[in-house]
Amino acid sequence: MKKPIAVLISGSGSNLQALIDACAKPGYPAKIVLVISSKDDAYGLKRAEAAHIPAQAIRYKDYPDRDAFDAALHAAILASGAEVVCLAGFMRILTAGFVEKWQGRMLNIHPSLLPLFKGTDTHKAALLAGIKIHGCTVHYVTPEMDSGPIIAQAAVRVMPGDTPQMLAARVLEAEHLIYPLALARVIAPESPQAAVSATMVIGI
Ligand code: GAR
Repeated sequence: MKKPIAVLISGSGSNLQALIDACAKPGYPAKIVLVISSKDDAYGLKRAEAAHIPAQAIRYKDYPDRDAFDAALHAAILASGAEVVCLAGFMRILTAGFVEKWQGRMLNIHPSLLPLFKGTDTHKAALLAGIKIHGCTVHYVTPEMDSGPIIAQAAVRVMPGDTPQMLAARVLEAEHLIYPLALARVIAPESPQAAVSATMVIGI
């Protein structure tokens, strides 16, 4: 039985695409039953449509406050039958109440090697700090942002002359490898798809 999952996005949805592609493989232990975007013009909605996955926009500005927005998210996820939630470039901070409802069943991908560089503009911050190894992290979501238990990480080299955009592109490739891996490890640790090291070093 494939585990039903919901994916929450706000933008391009390239990580959503990586999950769609993984779920299309016969032995992969998950199936995406819903995509929610916080923006109605997110390209990720088109990716969902192309893959025949139910998708909808739930916009913050249509609700009076964060509690009401998160209640709408929660209701839509419950109605879909999803049992696990994957945040994939979802750029809204969730309320503690919402996070607690899904704690242990909600994952996020973050573009840095946590606990370094929480928040936004991680690639710029990494370059400013002068680090030579950067990367990405899949972690459980807890009420404190970018701080939940780490499930998988991948490291990439910072190259001389890198701009934040160049570094972001390299990290994104690593994100696409580890998100499907981390999800498989969470929902079916015994599956072959999960039987790769939780830590990957790419391009070093
Ligand atoms: C990814 O780099 C993801 O790690 C990041 O947004 C990008 C979304 O790209 N997420 C965060 O910064 C969350 N704080 P995508 O829409 O192409 O998957």
